[in-house]
Formats: sequence, structure tokens, C-alpha cells
Amino acid sequence: MEMSRREFMTSVAAGAAGMAAMGGTAFGQTAGASKDEIVVAMIGSGVQGRVLLNDCINIPGVRFKAICDIWPFAQRYAGNTLRRAGQQVEIYEDYREMLEKEKDLNAVIVASPDFVHAEHTIACLQAGLHVYCEKEMADSLESARTMVLAARESGRLCQIGHQRRSNPVYQQALQMVQKDEICGRVTACYGQWNRSVQPRLTWPERFVIPDETLQRFGFDSMDHFRNWRWFRRYSSGPIADLGSHQISVFSWFLGANPTMLTAMGGSDYFPDREWYEDVMAMYEYQTAKGSARMFYQVINTNGFGNYFERFKGDKGTLVISESLQQSYYVPEGDYEIPDWLAQVERTQRGGMSVIPLGAAIAARNAEGAAVMQAIDQKTIHQRHLENFFEAVRANNPAHLTCPPDLAYSMAVPVLNVIKAVGSNEKLQFTEADYKI
Ligand SMILES: NC(=O)c1ccc[n+]([C@@H]2O[C@H](COP(=O)([O-])OP(=O)(O)OC[C@H]3O[C@@H](n4cnc5c(N)ncnc54)[C@H](O)[C@@H]3O)[C@@H](O)[C@H]2O)c1
Repeated sequence: MEMSRREFMTSVAAGAAGMAAMGGTAFGQTAGASKDEIVVAMIGSGVQGRVLLNDCINIPGVRFKAICDIWPFAQRYAGNTLRRAGQQVEIYEDYREMLEKEKDLNAVIVASPDFVHAEHTIACLQAGLHVYCEKEMADSLESARTMVLAARESGRLCQIGHQRRSNPVYQQALQMVQKDEICGRVTACYGQWNRSVQPRLTWPERFVIPDETLQRFGFDSMDHFRNWRWFRRYSSGPIADLGSHQISVFSWFLGANPTMLTAMGGSDYFPDREWYEDVMAMYEYQTAKGSARMFYQVINTNGFGNYFERFKGDKGTLVISESLQQSYYVPEGDYEIPDWLAQVERTQRGGMSVIPLGAAIAARNAEGAAVMQAIDQKTIHQRHLENFFEAVRANNPAHLTCPPDLAYSMAVPVLNVIKAVGSNEKLQFTEADYKI
């Protein structure tokens, strides 16, 4: 189903008008709540849910009203954290009961495993709530598509948790690559997420979930429940878990989606896990300046070099990572770098003289200086959550840095890696493949 931007804005406006007619604000102000307060619930308060929860506690005007998790351990952890922050919450095991009983919510944060993202997100949107859903938006493109359509039909806002989109370091570096052209014409890119071997996750004996409950929520066993990332029915494996953070950064910076993909993967290092532990993928792009190629790898058997994205052009190389210490720029050969960049003090790295990215951003202009001055004040996830809450307050989907249509286009080259590995074929894409 095609819906133009205009139709979408009209449907959002209609939603807002409906809320106003019911006596609420555009984001559904609740009785007794302060004017700008956003009342939220969380579905899935596991490791990442707790990261988001702690960040939300630091965001003024955001108050939790409910937590839903099927694991008493996670329920208790989240409930205690919020209580210490002065927020009383109702605890639920089943999100359907939560949506039935909690009538004054404005938004829900979904941080459950990938295979239930679509179910949880769509149910919340259909209940009239705005949704922040973690990446990978779904475990298949078919499910991701249903989320995009549900968001459009609901007129509610939906942000997908690709936090690099709200990261000011990435936003500034994008300007340096696209406007300042510090890399010149980018022809070759490389990205990696390397991790040492990680043991299987376990659980405290007193927090075993009964089989009947596990099965009701789609899990085969307690081991699968804890290690869902490694099994095909709950996730799309490490390429989606880790690659989803990085592969789309190349499309973003190159200003073009991949036109070609080929990949290989291994699944024999861990005989008791299903997904490819090591995956290597190659992409081709047709950019405004010409073709470019990218090699990406996710490795779960050796952590050397951690994670970063690298852009190589005829004027220089930019290495960027969520870890600022790993981010730097190296000019190519005799390329005369602009004055503002030449002033930056260089550091030594692996026998090379490099320009640290943070210092380069600070030297670029007043905006860059302000960005770097404030960089330690917030976490990367807090900024992405803030972008979501600001958009909800303004009832402005255009303010979101990662709406579902964009997240779908970001998922296409990631989830297709599985098809490329399985079929051993070179896959080709047109722009139509990135749109719904
Ligand atoms: N953006 C990031 O940097 C980032 C980092 C890590 C994880 N994530 C994403 O966050 C999500 C959660 O990952 P995690 O590491 O926290 O996993 P986790 O296993 O630690 O947490 C998942 C939680 O969901 C709960 N749960 C499972 N099924 C449920 C259901 N039907 N209803 C309610 N709760 C349910 C589990 O009990 C658990 O507490 C995943 O989608 C993952 O990809 C994002």
C-alpha cells in the first residue's frame, strides 16, 4: 500500500485532532500529569531495556507507569530501579493485559527479543500509543514491512533504536565527508564488529520460568530464552544483532543504498548454536560520484580491533566508531587539508600520525565545538530517546531521526545477508527494494 507523505501528515493531524477532541494533548496528556509529561511503559526490561530505562530517568518530563516482562528477574530489577528513582510502576507479564488496563499511557518502549518486535510494536500503535522499538526492527523484512504499514495507519510516531542516527559525532562526521569532502571521492569502505568468544548465558536457579509460560511466549526452553540471539526462530543472528548498527552507516554517508551484495558465513565453531558466528559480506554502491565497494564482517571468535566503520577516498581515510577513542582521520598522500583540520594536534596510532575525530569536529566550526563540549553529558541512547520524546511532544514525525520507513531501508541490506549466505548468490537491488 502506497501512502504519500502528505497523506501521512494528514493522518497524523487527524489523530492529533481526535486526541484534542477527547480533551488530551497531541500525545495524550493524562489526568494529573503535568502539561509536558510523557507517560511511558516498557515491554522487555532485559539488558538493553534497563539501559534505556536508566537513560529515561535522566530525561525530564518522562515518567514510567508500567513495565511488562515475562521474567520475574527482569520485572524485579526494573521495578526496583524505578522505585529508587521515585517512580511507582505496575508490573505485567503479558503486554495485552498491560494495554487493556493502562489507559493513560502515551508511549511504549519495546526492548523485547527481535522475533516479537512486530507483534509488540503493532499492538501498541493500534492502541494509539507512540513506540520506540529497538533494532533490528524485526527478524524478517516481511515483519518489518507490517510495522511500517501499521505506523502509517495509526498516525502515531515510531522510532527504531538505531542510535547512531541521533549521535552528534556521526552527524558532524557526515558533514565532513559529504560537505567538506575530507575523504574526496570515497571508493572503498570497511566495517567490522569483532567479539571474543562469549559463553552461553545462564540464569539463577530461583528465577527459572515454568515451561508452560515459556511456551506461551514462544520459547522452547530456558536456555533458548536466555540465548535467543543464537537461534533462528527468535532472531536473525549476529549479522542483524551487530551488523544492523553499522551496515546502514555506509549507505547514510555514501548517500546511496547498495546495488549488489554477496556474502559467506560459518556456523561450525559453536556446534550448539544455530546462527552464523562469523559472516563476511561485500556490497557495491552507485554514488553520485561513481561506484564504491564495502566489505563488512562480524566475528564472534576473535575480538581484535573491536568495532568501527572506515571510509577510504582519494583524499583521505575516516575511521568512525561509537567509541570516540577509535575515531580518527588520516589525509591521503599529498592532499593539502583545510586550515581548520591542519590546526588539530595529531596523535600516534599504530605507528601512524592521525587526527583524532573529536578534536577535528571541535576545530571545524562553532557548532562542532559545542557538540564536543557537551559530548560527555549524555549517553548515545539518551540522545536517541530524547529525539523520540521531542518528536512526540511536537507531534512531528519529520523530527524523528529513525522512523520506520528509514529503518526498513536500513534492514534490507542487513537481513538479505542471510539470503546471500544461504543461496551463495550475488543479490542485486534497485531503489524499489528499499521502499514500501
Ligand atoms: N541499540 C542497542 O545498542 C542495543 C543493544 C543491545 C540490544 N539491543 C536490542 O534490544 C533488544 C533486547 O535485547 P537484550 O540484550 O536486552 O535482550 P535480553 O534477553 O537481555 O532482554 C529481553 C527481555 O525481554 C523479555 N521478554 C521476552 N519475551 C517477552 C515478551 N513476549 N513480553 C515481554 N517481555 C519479553 C525477556 O524476559 C528479557 O527480560 C533486542 O532487540 C536487541 O537487538 C539494542
